[in-house]
Amino acid sequence: MRFLVINGPNINMLGVREPDVYGRQDYQMLLELVRGTCAEEGIELELFQSNHEGALVDEIQNAYGRIDGIVINPAAYTHTSVAILDALKAVSIPAVEVHISDVSSRESFRQISYPGMACVKTYMGQGIDGYRQAILYLKQYLTERDER
Ligand code: DQA
Repeated sequence: MRFLVINGPNINMLGVREPDVYGRQDYQMLLELVRGTCAEEGIELELFQSNHEGALVDEIQNAYGRIDGIVINPAAYTHTSVAILDALKAVSIPAVEVHISDVSSRESFRQISYPGMACVKTYMGQGIDGYRQAILYLKQYLTERDER
C-alpha cells in the first residue's frame, strides 16, 4: 500500500504561523508523525508540499496508477480550488481531507471545501494528529474495499 500525503500553502510555516490557531508543533514534527505512522503500519509514503495550486494538481495527476490513497490538506485552496477537486476526481484515488484547525467553527469563507467533495472522510480540529487518524482510516478503508 502506497500513500501520498499532500500539504498546501503555508503548511510549511507550521509552528511559526498563527500558533493560537494551528498550534506550536512545526512542519518537521508533522512530517515525523506521518513518516512514523506509515512505518508502523507498513505503508510506503510519498510526501509533497507546495504553495502553488498547479503544482498540487500536477502531483495529484502524477499519483495516477502509482498511489493507493491520498491524504490531503489543501489549506487555503480548500475554499477556492475546483481544480484540486477535479484532479482528485480525475485520478479517482480514495482521498481523506485533513485540517489542523476546526474550520467548521471559523470564518464563513472557510465553510466550503471543494476538494472535500471528492474525499471519503474529513478530519478537522485535531491538530497534526488528524494526519495520523487519516492514515489509519484510509488503510482500513482500502483494506475493507479490497476484501469485498
Ligand atoms: C487549514 C484551514 C484553512 O482554512 C487554512 O487556509 C489553512 C489551514 C487547516 O489545516 O486548518 O491554511 O487547512
